[in-house]
Parts: sequence; C-alpha cells; structure tokens
Amino acid sequence: MAKAETREQTTHGIVSLPTMPRTMLAGLILAAGKGTRMRGERAKVLHEVAGASMIELVSQAVRQAGVEKPIVVVGHDAETVVATLQDGTHQFVEQREQLGTGHAAMMAVDLLKGHDGPVLVTPGDTPLLSGETLAELVKTFTDEGAQAAVASFVTFEPGSYGRVVRDEEGHVSGIVEAKDATAEELEIKEVNAAVYCFDCATLLRHLPNLQKGNAQGEYYLTDVIAAIRGEGGKVVATCFDDPDEFMGVNDRWQLAEASRIMRLRVLRRHALNGVTIVDPSSTYIGAGVQIGPDTLVHPMTVIDGDTRIGSGCTIGPNAWVKDSAIGDGCQVFMSHVDQAEMADGARCGPFSNLRPGTRLGARVKIGNFVEIKNGQIGEDAAVSHLTYIGDASVGARTNVGAGTITCNYDGFAKHRTEIGADTFIGSNSTIVAPRTIGDGAMVAAGSVVTEDVPDDAMAVGRARQVTKEQWVASWRQRRQTETLKKNETSAD
Ligand code: UD1
Ligand code: CA
Repeated sequence: MAKAETREQTTHGIVSLPTMPRTMLAGLILAAGKGTRMRGERAKVLHEVAGASMIELVSQAVRQAGVEKPIVVVGHDAETVVATLQDGTHQFVEQREQLGTGHAAMMAVDLLKGHDGPVLVTPGDTPLLSGETLAELVKTFTDEGAQAAVASFVTFEPGSYGRVVRDEEGHVSGIVEAKDATAEELEIKEVNAAVYCFDCATLLRHLPNLQKGNAQGEYYLTDVIAAIRGEGGKVVATCFDDPDEFMGVNDRWQLAEASRIMRLRVLRRHALNGVTIVDPSSTYIGAGVQIGPDTLVHPMTVIDGDTRIGSGCTIGPNAWVKDSAIGDGCQVFMSHVDQAEMADGARCGPFSNLRPGTRLGARVKIGNFVEIKNGQIGEDAAVSHLTYIGDASVGARTNVGAGTITCNYDGFAKHRTEIGADTFIGSNSTIVAPRTIGDGAMVAAGSVVTEDVPDDAMAVGRARQVTKEQWVASWRQRRQTETLKKNETSAD
C-alpha cells in the first residue's frame, strides 16, 4: 500500500493521480439508500464529513482513480443528490425501491451494457476512500487477470460488516452478511469494504440471477462474488492495512468519527507542509484551506471555506477565519475574520470582528472590540480600540482613536465615510455619513462630525468646555449648612 500522506492528499484533490487510460474504467456509486440508521430525513450520502458531503468525497476518489463519468445510483432524496453532483461529470440512474446493493447495481445495467473492461463499484457512504487505493484495487484486478477484485480489511470490531469467507487455500469463496452469518463466520475479522472491481460483462451476466432469500430479503451485490467463484472465475481480495479508508458511515456517531479522521488528515497535511498545529484536537481546518509554512495555529481555532493564509502568521488561540485571504506575517488573535483580506504584517485582536468586505493594508493594526464591515484600511493605519468602521475607507498611516463610530446607516440607506491618509481621528468621535475627512486632517476627541473636513484642517464638533473656578467648594459649603439646619429642626 502506498504511503499514507500521498493517499491523504488525494482525498482532497490536491494531487492528481497517474490514472489508467480513462475510457477503460467504468464506475458505479451506490447512493440510493435512505440510511435508516442516521435517523433523519436527509439521504445518508448527503451528510457532510469535514465540510463536504460523503457522496462528493466518494465521487472525487472514484474520478481520481480514473473513472471519467461515474454512474450514480440515486433513490432516496434523489433530487438533492443529483443537484449536489450536478457538474456534468456524473451519470444518474434511479432506484425507486431500495431492494439491496445488488438491486441498485441492476439499475445501471443499461448504461453499462457494451462496456468492455473493468467497472469500479463503491458505496456512497465511505467518505474516507482515496483515489489511490481505488486505483490500486483496479491494478490488482488487471494484473491478476481476475473477474472480480474485492477490497477487504481486518478489524477487531467486524460488527455489521460482511465477512470475507476464504477456502482452505486462502482463496475468497464468498462474502457473508453479518445478519446471515453463522456463529463461526461472525468470528471472521476480515471484512468486505464494499469496494469492488468487476469485469463488467461478468457482473452484468450475474446480476439478473441474484436472489433475495436472505435475512434482509434483499438482493445482495456481495452474492456476485460466490457466483463468480461458482463458475470457476477468479476472485481476488486485497486486504488493505488502513481500515479508516473504508469506514462505512451508517449512523451519526460513525459520521462524527469519520469527520474526526478527515480533520486529522487535513491537519496532518498542513503539519507536514510546515504549519505548526499546537493542538489538533481543538483545531478545525476545512479541506480547501491553504496555509504557508512557519505559520502557527493555536488551539480553539476554526479556519474554513476558501481561505488562504500566508507564511509566518500566528492564528489563534480562539480565532475563526472563513473565506478570507491573509498574507504573510499576519496575526489573528481571538478574533473573527469573515470574507476579509489582510495584507502582509496586518494584525487583529483580541476580539476584533472583521466582516465581509474588510480589506486591511500592510501592517495595519486592528485592536480589541473593533468591528469593521466593508471597510478598507490603508497600510500602517491603526484602529486600536472599541470602534465601528462600516462602509468606510481609512487612508494610510491614519490613527483612529478609541470609541470612533462611523454612522453609516440612517434607517433607510447605507452611506460611506472616506477618511484620508495621515489623519488623526480623536477618541469617541462620531462621523455621520456620508462624510469625507481629508488627508492630514484632525478631528478633536468627542466630536460629532456632520460636515466634511478638508485636508490638513482641524474639526471640533462638540460643546466648548466651561470651567467654573471654586464652584464645587461653594456648593459643598452650601449643602453642609443646609443639612445642619435640617437636623436641628428635626431634633426640636
Ligand atoms: C454493505 C455490504 C457489506 C459491507 C459494507 C461495507 C452488501 C449486501 N453488504 O453493507 O458486505 O461490509 O457495505 O460498508 O452489499 N444502497 C443502494 N440501494 C439499496 C441499498 C443500498 O443504493 O437498495 C447503497 C447505500 O446508499 C449505500 C451502499 O449502497 O451507499 C451500501 O448500503 P448499506 O445499506 O449501507 O450496506 P451495508 O449494510 O453497510
Ligand atoms: Ca454501509
């Protein structure tokens, strides 16, 4: 079996594999089942594992193995499954009644007819499969000149998996479903991964003969294996050493387990690429995220969606970054960054909220309790404390003082605030948009800015301070005298 790291990368489409000549390999994905054990409405294969639906992950692996246009058997919630895969690289057949995996395969007979070569068959509920493993199974099938190759693995908890039964010589003689197995067969630890490569013509010849006289009253695809052996055909079972890859998800606990494994794979890929992941158990990184080397990811951090992070950054602890582009040497500390951009050396946090449309220039500093929405901040500018910047631009090197608010909304429409470069906005200023503040201008602390401020001007928009000398001293004196008088009267 190939090295784990290559396999893991392929699961996320990072590398494309050397494939067989494409026209030679057909593919069939069985995805019609409801997944009763999931105890919900949604078709099982639509449930997501670390951000992508199981059916998408399986289909990706199947295509990486060299199948150009997999046939997907849909049934339960067919419309949604079809919509999920609607990118022109799939063919669909419907299985109206779910009468078993063999029955599901029968639905594809018309599409497979005339195909001269192997057909790769996978379930739709094995999200951790990799293209490389599938390609390896196809290669074994071809090299061995077999009519069927079955992927198996050994587990100490064979549970509900079908057991691979071998004869005295070690050849596969059939697969027995757990519900149909004898006590002795249940002891078998080698189980069926439900991933097969069949000679297409052979499969099509046996499918119509399947019977449903078994414990579940279903047409089992697994019965084709014994049938091929029965007529003297060659069946090989390749026992793979990573059971995780074939993990079938039948209930939500297995879904959680598969997500955990998938997340670890992603984290491992980043770690091997030079990213320091301080605590894998509290770090979530989506499959599509890119991170440069020497970036440090602290605990309690979620990085998701279409996010790119450069090298030498520090992300977290307690950061949530989504669909954002972050340059080199940036810092996101206890903050939320959503659909935002941070140029090299920009910093935010603790407790910054960078909302969609935020663009921070190089070395910008955003501090605590600062919310920015659709705000563009020029390089080397600082917005350090307790501020709301909405629908606004702030020029380079400008300092926005604590408690500044851009009033962008008048109850009906949003308005912009344009603040120039090298400007100083005094603390606790309120800028009533639409407003322009020029380059090199200054706004006095506590101002309510209701008029534009030209370049290099100073604006004061507050009541003038009045200072009354000795006012408090005389007031105190008066109050004391009054209190004394009152006490004397009440004593009488
Ligand atoms: C199946 C195998 C079992 C194997 C296990 C591995 C059979 C009979 N059993 O059992 O040997 O160890 O997978 O995970 O094949 N499906 C349809 N139509 C149907 C029934 C199922 O499309 O009528 C699809 C499901 O959507 C699912 C896949 O086939 O994606 C497997 O079905 P499932 O019911 O989960 O089979 P298992 O009981 O897990
Ligand atoms: Ca299953």
